Amino acid sequence: MLALTAINESRADSDFFKRMNARRTCRHFKSETPDLNAIVNCIRVAGTAPSGANSQPWFFALVTDPRLRADLRQAAENEEKEFYFKRASSEFLQDLAILKTNWQKPHLTEAGALIVVFSKTFNEVANEKKRCYYPRESTGIAVGMLITALHMAGFDMLTHTPSPMNFLNELLERPTTEKPFLILAVGARDRSVALPDISRKQLSGIMKFYGVEP
Ligand SMILES: Cc1cc2nc3c(=O)[nH]c(=O)nc-3n(C[C@H](O)[C@H](O)[C@H](O)COP(=O)(O)O)c2cc1C
Repeated sequence: MLALTAINESRADSDFFKRMNARRTCRHFKSETPDLNAIVNCIRVAGTAPSGANSQPWFFALVTDPRLRADLRQAAENEEKEFYFKRASSEFLQDLAILKTNWQKPHLTEAGALIVVFSKTFNEVANEKKRCYYPRESTGIAVGMLITALHMAGFDMLTHTPSPMNFLNELLERPTTEKPFLILAVGARDRSVALPDISRKQLSGIMKFYGVEP
């Protein structure tokens, strides 16, 4: 019975697939205050992720303070200007063109809230530094679970990776043993702005059976 349910759930017409397939990155948000308790609950879900040797090497900063957000935007846009006008290869800029992104990052001050994710190289246990294992892989899994939880809770999101991101340690006063991983802008999409017209790979392009087929 369990196996049958699992197979049905993996079908393209399953409710769960349909809901996850409807997730889209949005870059323009309404200035609405989100339900912070609902966001905290999603962070709780992220904290159940598997991790290397159970080191749980993640930290989530839930940022709503307007002055801090203005500082984050200023610092991020400084880096983004460098990226768009100097550092980015022409190939990268071509690949980004369909997304219509530029150095301006209004979501940092306009989305309901920001979750800044850090990946920890060490945990502090009783004043002792304990190494974390596979921190980036573990944090990536936790962020995947966070995005799933936020989407299922009805939030819209943008995954933002300014490069470099060291300004996040400075502004959020996080130790250097925590590596900034990404910023997740969370809120409600401004539906007057169209989403980029992009597609996803078909199942046959991302998997292959090496045994029986269902
Ligand atoms: C690791 C990662 C980094 C990303 N960085 C950015 C970013 O810095 N700026 C941005 O506008 N979108 C960023 N995105 C969003 C992607 O462009 C987006 O997920 C992709 O175009 C697919 O669109 P979809 O999420 O609507 O399916 C990032 C996504 C991931 C997973």
